[in-house]
Amino acid sequence: MSLDQPETKPHEQLAAHLAPQMQAVNALIRDRMASKHAPRIPEVTAHLVEAGGKRVRPMLVLATARMCGYEGPFDIHLAATVEFIHTATLLHDDVVDESSQRRGRPTANLLWDNKSSVLVGDYLFARAFQLMVEPGNLRVLEILSNAAATIAEGEVLQLTAAQDLATDEGIYLQVVRGKTAALFSAATEAGGVIAGAPEAQVQALFDYGDALGIAFQIVDDLLDFQGDSQSTGKNVGDDFRERKLTLPLIKAIAKADADERAFWVRTIERGKQEAGDLDHAIALLHKHGALDATRAEALAWAARSKSALSTLPESPLRQMLIDLADYVVARIN
Ligand code: IPE
Ligand code: IPE
Ligand code: MG
Ligand code: MG
Repeated sequence: MSLDQPETKPHEQLAAHLAPQMQAVNALIRDRMASKHAPRIPEVTAHLVEAGGKRVRPMLVLATARMCGYEGPFDIHLAATVEFIHTATLLHDDVVDESSQRRGRPTANLLWDNKSSVLVGDYLFARAFQLMVEPGNLRVLEILSNAAATIAEGEVLQLTAAQDLATDEGIYLQVVRGKTAALFSAATEAGGVIAGAPEAQVQALFDYGDALGIAFQIVDDLLDFQGDSQSTGKNVGDDFRERKLTLPLIKAIAKADADERAFWVRTIERGKQEAGDLDHAIALLHKHGALDATRAEALAWAARSKSALSTLPESPLRQMLIDLADYVVARIN
């Protein structure tokens, strides 16, 4: 964090630095999330969009493009594109995960129904594709359309890895790279490409986004066990209930004795969960140091993301992106 504003969080600092551009992004989002013909669409999108969200991904596009000397106007379209892809995946994700809370509000699947969430999610995906064409840059189009496919692939891979105690850290990394990091790295890579940055810089920006996204999801998975829903805006324990093999669980299961293994087989593999199981699971995570080991991995990925930026010229934006990597993992300290 910068010395003159020690109390400002890095994503707020980025938001302040990019305020005029973010205003344009928000205006474009509001404009494109509307629909003349289907009133359910603005109902659902307004519910989610007005709840806020940190807007990390659009800020990554704007910050990287500007850091590489771009002055607009198409960074705005690309930033709105990534937020639309993100919002579409959240609508679908909350159906798949049967989640009831998002951004501190009831989820759309709870307030309306699964059908509305799936279809409005599809609509937002389609709107994202319309937006990503507008800059007329084929390479950017390739980056963002690839990301959309990779995210869906990651979510499907997770579906088959869930409930399977054989899921290891390699598969976990593959899932996380797909479902989360792909959009972070597409945002930072597209920012560099739209700015016409040299290839080495574009690669560095991709590496930054990839590692940052992995750190971000590892932290999210940790907070699912030890966060509080007041600050995350989501329910604690969702991943355990959904029998998702996230990194803390994978690490604890690898060290399980026979009794513990039987507990994991019952709760995760067979899905027979009782009152008190989540607390027992968390106790086992503590017993085997799985939460600390997971935190260490998040820190290592954050360090990797920061070191990717070290090849880029120094600038206030570069410093804010470095601070953002620290902040992502500071949420769990
Ligand atoms: C939530 O992302 C989905 C994950 C990748 C964990 P964010 O935490 O960026 O969600 P919002 O947009 O701020 O609500
Ligand atoms: C986040 O998945 C990634 C996507 C939405 C594609 P999660 O299911 O882990 O995220 P939360 O915890 O619901 O935000
Ligand atoms: Mg989810
Ligand atoms: Mg999910």
